[in-house]
Amino acid sequence: MSVLAKFTEKFNAVNDVYLSLLADIDSSETNLRIALFFIAFNPTFWNIVARLEYKTHFITKIAGSAKRGCYLLAFTIFSLGLVRDFYFHRALDFQPTSTLLDSDAVRAAGIACLATGQVLVVTSMYQLGVTGTYLGDYFGILMDNIVTAFPFNVSANPMYQGSTLSFLGTSLLYGKAAGLFATVMVNLMYTLALKFEEPFTAAIYAKRDAEKAKKSS
Ligand SMILES: *[C@@H]1O[C@H](CO)[C@@H](O)[C@H](O)[C@H]1NC(C)=O
Repeated sequence: MSVLAKFTEKFNAVNDVYLSLLADIDSSETNLRIALFFIAFNPTFWNIVARLEYKTHFITKIAGSAKRGCYLLAFTIFSLGLVRDFYFHRALDFQPTSTLLDSDAVRAAGIACLATGQVLVVTSMYQLGVTGTYLGDYFGILMDNIVTAFPFNVSANPMYQGSTLSFLGTSLLYGKAAGLFATVMVNLMYTLALKFEEPFTAAIYAKRDAEKAKKSS
């Protein structure tokens, strides 16, 4: 077989899987649409609100202190996450199970992804605390040192990667193509969010370090 023929054969095989999964998505289902809305809305919301807080301190003013403000935002973000997860699970209930995903191997992979994802999320929160997890730096609540202990020695963004893995794991466990589609959306939103958050966080810490250096000189 020529290289081109081999490539075409592989491409067609992958394409068949892709098309078959797409055909298994009921895209008009309302819960799925609501879940996708919150997947896109939540990171957009917290980035806009956190930047507004940084510029105007409006949450600090409402709550009375930076710490209480950060806890208020944390509670809001956490609740929005619960709403998103509620609709995601409901959406999966209404979606058809893909024959391609309906196997013990896929379910086992799902459990592995889900377990890994949960470990990353829980240990990352343990390391960062509430204010470190929920955008404390925008409130002027900075960490003393960069955390390098597990899970930060295996993942640069364990919160986002853990969350994405949990969506992937749940979708595989229940064999739902629509879940995989939602997972791709989750990944896309977190990638976008990091493009905004990483340079901003780096700048906040660079400013702090510059001020520290000034004081000690
Ligand atoms: C990360 O840290 C954990 C716990 O200290 C350790 O068991 C693991 O081997 C480390 N992983 C890497 C890749 O350094």
